[in-house]
Amino acid sequence: MKCNICKAEALVKLRAHNAAFCRDCFLQFFSRQVAKGIEKEHLCTREDRILVAVSGGKDSLSLLYELIHQGYDATGLFIDLGIPVSSQAARRTVEDFCAKHGLRLIVKELVEDGLDIPTVKEAIRRPVCSVCGKLKRHYFNRIAMEEGFTVLATGHNLDDEVARLFSNTLRWDLSYLASDGPLLPAHGRFVRKIKPLWRLTEFETANYAFLTEIEPHIAPCPYSPGASFTTLKGVLQRLEYAMPGRKLDFYQGFIHRGRKGFEHLAQEGGDPLHDCPECGYPTSGEDLCGVCRIRHQVAAFREAQCSAS
Ligand code: AMP
Ligand code: FES
Ligand code: ZN
Repeated sequence: MKCNICKAEALVKLRAHNAAFCRDCFLQFFSRQVAKGIEKEHLCTREDRILVAVSGGKDSLSLLYELIHQGYDATGLFIDLGIPVSSQAARRTVEDFCAKHGLRLIVKELVEDGLDIPTVKEAIRRPVCSVCGKLKRHYFNRIAMEEGFTVLATGHNLDDEVARLFSNTLRWDLSYLASDGPLLPAHGRFVRKIKPLWRLTEFETANYAFLTEIEPHIAPCPYSPGASFTTLKGVLQRLEYAMPGRKLDFYQGFIHRGRKGFEHLAQEGGDPLHDCPECGYPTSGEDLCGVCRIRHQVAAFREAQCSAS
């Protein structure tokens, strides 16, 4: 198998693009896809201060590395969830990676705010994953706003995005179908959110990480039943195998044509946003936001524990 560009021995075959590449030509392909994804959807410019949420996984480390390589002003953000073993391993991975490449990194420890995941898990007595996601999104936004970043970037790839889109389509979730995509513009106290890897599959980011010698963290979270959307990703993988390129077509079709059809429907039924009376960040209810409600639940749990002892 020869590289389509330079005719050297090819290392990576991409059926969706009807192409095969050697190492260097694949890395150039990857860079072009990131640049195209940013430019086509107006995600960010070289004037932006970008905060990149890095979990220690292959996608977010590759994203930070590639944005720096393309000359963007990017800083890493790691949220230390305080989960034994997995958070420590992930943090070490991110810190070592940033030190090795001389990259700026902000680390936020949730234990400082009494919201580390083991404590939250004990206090809420229900599966912690969705609450963990809510806390992470809150701190991504909050730290970006407080530290003067203009954009928050995450490492979601095409497989993540298509699986989420498919899941929301199966449920006809109008508010999602009206607004999601690789760009969520800033509004009020919500910073702009971007997903620059939206054109690249998990297979492609895994190859990029491997070929650039990025060593990701792989210890699974003890509280997660597995990767999200596993079943849907499997179904979509089979579809992609039978019809190469369909995932990217489906997602591009959604952001360029499909989404428009849902915008007016979601506006009719959407909840208006209010500022949370405690933390001031926007929330759809009239009362405390989800994160402040969790904080109260944890405080009540602690009090109950103290009075019992
Ligand atoms: P996940 O929901 O774990 O698939 O992660 C999706 C994206 O969220 C990753 O690509 C990262 O950009 C970001 N992310 C997840 N966990 C963390 C974390 N602990 N700290 C910083 N960013 C994270
Ligand atoms: Fe959040 Fe596992 S990473 S619950
Ligand atoms: Zn709040």
